[in-house]
Formats: sequence, structure tokens, C-alpha cells
Amino acid sequence: MTLAAVADTATRPDAGWFAEVRELARRRDAVLLAHNYQLPEIQDVADHTGDSLALSRIAAASAASTIVFCGVHFMAEVADILSKPEQIVILPDLAAGCSMADMASLPKVERAWRELSEVLDPDAKVTPVTYINSAADLKGFCGEHGGIVCTSSNAKAILDWSFSRREKVLFFPDQHLGRWTGHKMGIPLEQMVVWDFDEEMGGLTPEQIRNAKMILWKGHCSVHQMFQPQHIERWRAAHPKGIVISHPECGFEVCKASDYVGSTEMIIKTIAAAPPNTDWLVGTELNLVTRIADEFKPQGKTVKFMASTVCMCSTMARIDPQHLCWTLENLANGRVDNRITVPEPDATEARIALDRMLAVS
Ligand code: 13P
Ligand code: SF4
Repeated sequence: MTLAAVADTATRPDAGWFAEVRELARRRDAVLLAHNYQLPEIQDVADHTGDSLALSRIAAASAASTIVFCGVHFMAEVADILSKPEQIVILPDLAAGCSMADMASLPKVERAWRELSEVLDPDAKVTPVTYINSAADLKGFCGEHGGIVCTSSNAKAILDWSFSRREKVLFFPDQHLGRWTGHKMGIPLEQMVVWDFDEEMGGLTPEQIRNAKMILWKGHCSVHQMFQPQHIERWRAAHPKGIVISHPECGFEVCKASDYVGSTEMIIKTIAAAPPNTDWLVGTELNLVTRIADEFKPQGKTVKFMASTVCMCSTMARIDPQHLCWTLENLANGRVDNRITVPEPDATEARIALDRMLAVS
């Protein structure tokens, strides 16, 4: 099957297509990076797969002249910031965004910082920490204000770093990753308050702000909010020896009821390393769960998706074989479409916060 044929149809690509994509990427000196939530055919054809932290490191170390990022927008921005100026980063579909990242914006975070300064001096007392699932200008805000970036696999190390510098943390945009990590570090729930960005002063009193260790942005991932503790209770009743593993973007009660909580890469590695004939319930995106269910079946492992409804990240799935073909064919014809470029000064300031993260984790 040719690239054009795949671009014209919704047919699942065959071996010929895979060979053609690989050859085109090689000729254009392009490296294909794919997040763990990507469609199976995209992951199969990629040079590297991984979680957000692993892909950031690979992008930073890559010598390829073009990085085709099969993931979502903030990931391609990170690749652009960490790569060399002469390297080109492409996102095959610009509509591949992250709804959680969109829940925080620079004007809203700047407003929060201004309002916090009515109660305390944030630049002396608060480390701003942004989850990597955020726009580049928010990473820039953290770089400028002594803050840092974290991912789901290094959040604890990043919070340790943050608290060693200042007594409080403003954590955005995912309240759930912030709360779970704070809880694992022994911070009482009552010292983790939620900043409602639609309310004046985040809907908090000056006393609540003074008493808080962590100020959690009121953001979330809609995909991971579909998982409920009842899903775990029901499954455990039928599988008393079963093991439950969830992503830290899940709600607090789901994380608490799970045996393990970790990044997409940690989920894959934990199940891969488990003994044969074990039963797993997994609270993360559907594409990843379906893929590992097939992969580990020959080892007698059963891997079950946590929710009864479909919870897939529809924006991740926008990077399909058709968009990848289009990108590579254009590159072959000397055309660069969907280039992701982070403007200055955001790029330099965001790089400070990202370099701090890479040094800590
Ligand atoms: P990971 O860094 O664990 O891959 O998570 C990224 C993400 O967006 C999960 O929803
Ligand atoms: Fe964003 Fe959620 Fe999709 Fe992850 S799963 S990219 S947090 S919308």
C-alpha cells in the first residue's frame, strides 16, 4: 500500500506502508517520536515511544534535522524548546491539543500571582510548578519566577526541590497530580487548597492561603476523571488477587484505591515486569490499555480497562496514518507544514524551567 493510498482511505496500513514511512523518514533525516497514547500503527512505525519525560529527553538529545512529534501540542513545544535552533519540529495535526493544558492560561496565572501578593510575597514564599501539560508561556512564567516543570514521573522529586527553596507551591494545571503527590509526601489534605481561577482570590480566604502548603489549580484531565472508585471495588470483588494500577491524573479516591500509581511508562514497565498469569485493572487512556492487553496476553496476563465507557484521548488520536503520510510526503517535496516554533522570550524562559526539571529528575 502506498502512502497516497493510506492518505485517501481509512484502511489500516500494511507492511509496505511501514517500509515507505521508514524510508522517507530516513531520507529526510527525520526522527519520529510517539507518545504512549498514540494509535498502535503510529507507535509501531515510530523511532521512539515513551512518556512525556522520556520523549523530552529524547528530543533534547536528538541530532535529527527534523523531529516529527506524534503527540499533542505542548509536547511538540517542549521538543522545539529543548532542540537546537536549526532543528525543525512538526506536529502532524495542529488540532492535537490537550484540554487540561487549556485550563490554565498566562493571564489567569498572572492574575493569581497578583492576588496572592495581597496576602504574601509569592516570589519569596511560593514556587510555581507547572505540569508539563501546559503551554510554553506558562513554563516561561515558571522560569522567570524561580519555578520549574514536572511530569507525572518526576513530580515528587520536583516538589522536594520546590519546597527546599520556598515554603509553598502553586501547582498548575492538574489539581489531581498535585494532590496525589503532596499526599504521598505527607502533606495533609487540609493544607492543599484549590485555586478556582474563575473566583476572586481563587475563592480562598487570606487565612486559607497563609495556612496552605500547596495551592492547586482547579484543572483536570477529562479522560482520567471517568475512572471511579466503584470500578475498582467491583473488579476487586471478582478478582481478589488482581492488581490495580492508575495514572496520577485520576481522582484522589481512585489513586488511593489503586495498588500502584504512576506515569504511562511506569504502568507499562510494571505490568511487563510482573509474573505471568496476573490480572491487572488499569486506569489510564484506552489506546494504551488495549495495546498492552494484546502485548501481554501471550504471558497469560489479563489487562482490563478500568471504566465501562470509552475513555480515549481524542486529541492524541488525531495523529493518524493519514496525517503522518501528509507530513512526510510534504517533507519529501521540500515543504514543511505544521512547524511548531515557540517565540522569544517564552522559549528562553521556558527552557530555564525545563532545564531545572531535567537536572532534578
Ligand atoms: P505521561 O507523562 O505519564 O505519559 O502522561 C502524559 C499525559 O498526558 C497523560 O494524560
Ligand atoms: Fe491531555 Fe488528558 Fe489527553 Fe493527557 S489524556 S493529553 S492530560 S487530555
